[in-house]
Amino acid sequence: MSPRHFLDISELSSDEVRLILDLAQRPVASLGRPLEGVGAALIFEKPSNRTRHSMEIAVVQLGGHPVYARGEEVGIDVRETAEDIAAVMAGYHGLLAARVFKHDVVVRMAKVSGVPVVNMLSDHSHPLQALADALTMQQTIGDLAGRSVAWSGDWNNVARSLAEVCVLLGARFSIAAPPAYGPSASEVTRINALGPGEFVAGTDPVAAVAGADAVHTDVWVSMGQEAETAAKEKAFAAYKVTGALMAKAAPSAQFFHCLPAHRGYEVDGEVIDGPASRVVPQAHNRLHSARGALAFLLGVK
Ligand code: CP
Ligand code: NVA
Repeated sequence: MSPRHFLDISELSSDEVRLILDLAQRPVASLGRPLEGVGAALIFEKPSNRTRHSMEIAVVQLGGHPVYARGEEVGIDVRETAEDIAAVMAGYHGLLAARVFKHDVVVRMAKVSGVPVVNMLSDHSHPLQALADALTMQQTIGDLAGRSVAWSGDWNNVARSLAEVCVLLGARFSIAAPPAYGPSASEVTRINALGPGEFVAGTDPVAAVAGADAVHTDVWVSMGQEAETAAKEKAFAAYKVTGALMAKAAPSAQFFHCLPAHRGYEVDGEVIDGPASRVVPQAHNRLHSARGALAFLLGVK
């Protein structure tokens, strides 16, 4: 039987997301040691702080041995194919995880791997981040069903996974992005069909955050897009999360950012370093939600 992989939030049902969030909050010892005696390969084609550390520690907490490898060393599709790498590593490890430039690489690895493959961020999505975002919002603003979550900025990997988890959990997710950088109509339709929530796309940041319980953003220039920096900084100038924009959200609105952040670009210091910011507990939840996700994939109920 082929193992359960985790490449996108959209592969999960609403109940499965809730189970992962529940597993994330259970005492570590109650999860058992599903990775006892095996390794977990963590391959990074791009830099990482939160994802590397949270995944390494989650693997240890589940009884396994993390093996970190930089992309240059493994050489996916340079030294050998993604398929050969995954098929071989599945013989050493109980889990394979990769941060890749091209999403198709994790899809190809999953096709041949006999153990779960986890996407640790691709150009398409960042599902582990969305689980931490959902967990942190649940802990700070309560059950997401019927709540309003806003995003001002780029329709990127983080935004896509967050939109998916919000719709699965019954929230309204409203994005404002410049016309050339927003979701396609087909993406809006696809994500709206995932669950009971609602996904609304527009171009006006004030309209997107109006009355929101949570306001999110992310960098304007994702890893791998450095050549687009000048054009994106110009296009996104009006989408910065400022104190004035936060004032349009609900009075109790909380601010979230996956980090790393660029103060003065996508968010002002007064917001990310202010009382409404939840970015540090959000980052800490990367560990708990990663542990919950891995436990789920490894069959912990
Ligand atoms: N948020 C996040 O994925 O951070 P890193 O790039 O540091 O892993
Ligand atoms: N959108 C960002 C997220 C980093 C965690 C990137 O892909 O670089």
